[in-house]
Amino acid sequence: MPPRKIIIDTDPGQDDAVAILLALASPEEIDVLGITCVAGNVPLPLTTRNARIVCELAGRSEMAIYAGCDRPLGRDLVTAEHVHGKTGLDGPSLPEPTMPMADGHAVDYIIDQLRTHDEGTITLCPLGPLTNIATALQKAPEIASRIAEIVLMGGGYFEGGNITPTAEFNIYVDPQAADIVFKSGVPIVVMPLDVTHKALVTKPRNDAFRALGTPQGIAVAQMTDFFERFDKEKYGSEGAPLHDPCVTAYLIRPDLFKGRHINVEIETTSELTMGMTVADWWRVTDRAPNATFMNDIDADGFFTLLTERLARL
Ligand code: RIB
Ligand code: CA
Repeated sequence: MPPRKIIIDTDPGQDDAVAILLALASPEEIDVLGITCVAGNVPLPLTTRNARIVCELAGRSEMAIYAGCDRPLGRDLVTAEHVHGKTGLDGPSLPEPTMPMADGHAVDYIIDQLRTHDEGTITLCPLGPLTNIATALQKAPEIASRIAEIVLMGGGYFEGGNITPTAEFNIYVDPQAADIVFKSGVPIVVMPLDVTHKALVTKPRNDAFRALGTPQGIAVAQMTDFFERFDKEKYGSEGAPLHDPCVTAYLIRPDLFKGRHINVEIETTSELTMGMTVADWWRVTDRAPNATFMNDIDADGFFTLLTERLARL
């Protein structure tokens, strides 16, 4: 089976960084056509900086990285320095990037790739707010039928929210964009907090990253050491949830995940529940299913895969 062609849309973010490293370490399954950056965890100038740092850490300074939208469609940008640190990639001390950004806007790149590649051959992997993806769908509606699948990290149902009591950060930052994506008709796989909160970087798992002894393994251990402090204190959990790598791990080993094909709609009017993913898990409505919403993971299998692949870099 040929590798799946993907575009990673991202707001690095330590967990985005690990997701990107996993994808770049898995050429048999994943062909990363390019990386598009969006404002989210930190403002756009930092997410573009961080994406380049991660690609250089992976030895991929030729990767095409595009700058995208610097704010949500209809709301002020909300960032998450309290989780990811001032730079968005606090933890390891990695050199400032020297690789260039690709010319052009991320949205135009996404549209162009979908128009030039055969229909149904590109998977979009959003790891942050969905602003770039929604803008591309608005600018060129015909691309919806050309997207093979959207595999995204975002939302939550049984786990509630992490930035408000009801909303997960990626969806909360740009709920209008999320609404456009979830109503697009494109096949969607969702990695919500319900599954990512079961992918905890416990000390033995973090020690396994560090024990690789490689620049990449050590950097990942330092990244997770940094951003886990917030979640451990908040949830009293054994470690930080590794959200975004669930997306790229799914492309390699979908059997690690379990979920249901259900209806998911986005709250875009009430400020109380803004950005909530209203997941009809129990199918109590007649709303048509539009997303495969994951809620379970083989966590040991996930971390074994991740550690083995990081060792290849
Ligand atoms: O809520 C977790 C998500 O928000 C992750 O993608 C993290 O990187 C932040 O973007
Ligand atoms: Ca992210």
